[in-house]
Order: sequence, then structure tokens, then C-alpha cells
Amino acid sequence: MAEFELLDNIMAKAAKKKRTLLLPESHDERVLKAAKILTEKEVASVITLGNEEKVRADAANWGVSLNGVRIIDPEKSDKLSDFSNIFYNLRKHKGMTIEEARNTMKRDIFFAAMMMREGMAAASVSGSFASTADVMRAGILCIGTKPGISIVSSFFMMVYPEITYSFADCAVVPDPDATQLADIAISTADNHKILTGEEPYIAMLSFSTKGSAEHKLIEKVIQATNIVREKRPDLNVDGELQFDAAIVDGIGKKKAPGSTVAGRANVLVFPDLNAGNIGYKIAQRLGKAEAVGPVIQGLKLPFFDLSRGCSVDDIVNTGAIACLMAE
Ligand SMILES: CC(C)(COP(=O)(O)OP(=O)(O)OC[C@H]1O[C@@H](n2cnc3c(N)ncnc32)[C@H](O)[C@@H]1OP(=O)(O)O)[C@@H](O)C(=O)NCCC(=O)NCCS
Repeated sequence: MAEFELLDNIMAKAAKKKRTLLLPESHDERVLKAAKILTEKEVASVITLGNEEKVRADAANWGVSLNGVRIIDPEKSDKLSDFSNIFYNLRKHKGMTIEEARNTMKRDIFFAAMMMREGMAAASVSGSFASTADVMRAGILCIGTKPGISIVSSFFMMVYPEITYSFADCAVVPDPDATQLADIAISTADNHKILTGEEPYIAMLSFSTKGSAEHKLIEKVIQATNIVREKRPDLNVDGELQFDAAIVDGIGKKKAPGSTVAGRANVLVFPDLNAGNIGYKIAQRLGKAEAVGPVIQGLKLPFFDLSRGCSVDDIVNTGAIACLMAE
């Protein structure tokens, strides 16, 4: 499936759900343009955050109609006080004061994360202005991880005309332990299915296939594979596998005979962030895959990040993905 087909499918499925989507960073022209497109295509009911007068003046300057887009001003909102108290109670054991909590809640991405927590929106996309670390912190501290999942991580959909692979983790967790690596694999497999409709086949990647080499780095991958099997016996997973054994049928059969995953993997789990980040960029730059992501996963609710260099289309597509992943 080509990238545009995959994204068209996602957009159509999201439109059927028509969830409430937060695009908090209203001071960014790209965000308001994306809000307009998502509203006009009826993919989502969009809310943006900021001083209403300023947002409307900016929109007029940029020639963007905001018909149908709701604007909430965190500073004037009657929720600010409640949100500050909730955040203070969540973080006071770490030394946070009520003033710090209130100042943090005035920040658009934190206010958005708290709106999600309180059920006022189903999904959120930010990070065209805020850094990845700040978006992640807002999500982790206000929303928290999914039950049974220890870690917030990310994946990229690497789209080729004939197949879409999911690569993880390429953007968030620098050096996962075996339990965390297993959770990255489980989250990615579940999301691969939601977004592509394909059955996931998970390869836990290494520089060794089924004992062809021995090293403590390989041990972690074997352990993580076993944890996935224990936690989710319904998933197709195998490891440790080298990249070629994971995706090339002939090599998979030779190096890992009898494996139900080798040669047909579509979820590729890298052992750490060095490998994952380098791996997805090689596939993108030399392998000419379209990279869609990073899609943040592991939070209780879809609270997504963007690259600061993102285009209006990137925000629209990420918004649709976030809405599709909302319950
Ligand atoms: C996610 C991230 C922002 C956390 O950084 P941090 O705020 O310095 O993290 P800390 O270690 O101080 O942890 C803060 C809290 O978040 C939790 N936390 C940190 N990373 C987490 C994760 N991936 N999943 C779940 N919880 C996490 C910690 O357990 C801690 O919780 P506590 O305060 O309740 O005990 C950081 O790992 C990061 O910046 N990742 C992105 C890496 C990057 O730059 N990627 C770009 C390359 S493409």
C-alpha cells in the first residue's frame, strides 16, 4: 500500500469516529491550517488553546478560517484552578509547589494533557513548537502509562508500495531493559494492527540469529522475547533474529528453520535507540521508505508529538492517526 493510500484509509476511519482532537499550539500558523483542514474534512472536532482574540487575529492574518474550531484560553479557563490542584497532588511528593503547578498548567501542552486526563478531549497532537522532551513529560506526568505497560515509547511506519513495516523504538527510550523492550514490542504490534489492519509478526532484532553468536547484548533480546511470549501468548514473536533473517524469506528459513516469524516480520523491534534511530533513517534515506511518525505509544491516551520541522500535512496526518487510536 502506498503512503497516500495508507493515510487515506486512516483519515477515512478517523472520520467515522469523529473524535475531539486538541491541537494546542495555536500560535503556530501550521497548526491553525491543520485545524481548518481537519475540521473541513470532518475528521475531528478540533479544539485549540490560547487567547481567543489573539488566535482569531493571527488566523485572519494567515488567511485561515476557524469556523467550527473551538478556542479555550487556559489562563481564563475555570478549569485552571482544578487542573493546578490535580497536578500539585500528582507531583507534590517530588517537591512541587502549588505555584509551580499553576504556572505549569498555564502552558498549552500541559493544559492539553490535563484536559485529556479529565476526559475533555480524546486525542492531542503538539510538538510543532514544544520539544519532544516537553511533550513527553506532559504526557507522562499528566496522563501516565497504560495499565500493564511500563514505558512510553514510539514507532515509525516505514511505508513501501508493497508492505508497511513498523520500526520501534526509534525516538524515545535510549536503553530499554528486557521488560521495557518487551513492552515496546507489544505496544508496537497492537498499534501496527490498528493502523495497517495487518496481522503483526514481531522480530526482536539483534546481530545474532538463534544462537549464531553469544554476547550479553543478545541476552537482553532473548529475555525480552520470552517476556512477550509470557505476557501475550496471542502474538507472533520470535528472537533473537538478524534483520535479514527477519524479513527475507529464504534467509529466514535457512537461519531460523521452523520460525513462524522469520522471513515475514512486519514489526521490527530494535535493541536500543542507537540501533532504532540509525535503522529507520537508513530505511528512509537509502531504502527510500516513507517514514510516518514517530507515533508515541504506551500512554493511557493518544497524546502525540510532532517534529518541529513538520508540515501542515504532517499535523493533519498525525491528528488522524491520534483520533484513530483513541478508544
Ligand atoms: C521522555 C523523557 C523526556 C524523560 O526525560 P526526563 O523528564 O529527564 O526523565 P526523568 O528521568 O527525570 O523522569 C521523569 C519522570 O518520568 C518518568 N519517565 C521518564 N521516561 C519515561 C518513559 N519513557 N516512559 C514512562 N515514564 C517515563 C520517570 O519514571 C519519572 O517519573 P517520576 O518523576 O514520577 O519518578 C526523555 O527520555 C526524552 O527526552 N526522551 C526523548 C529522547 C529524544 O531526545 N529523542 C529524540 C530523538 S528522535
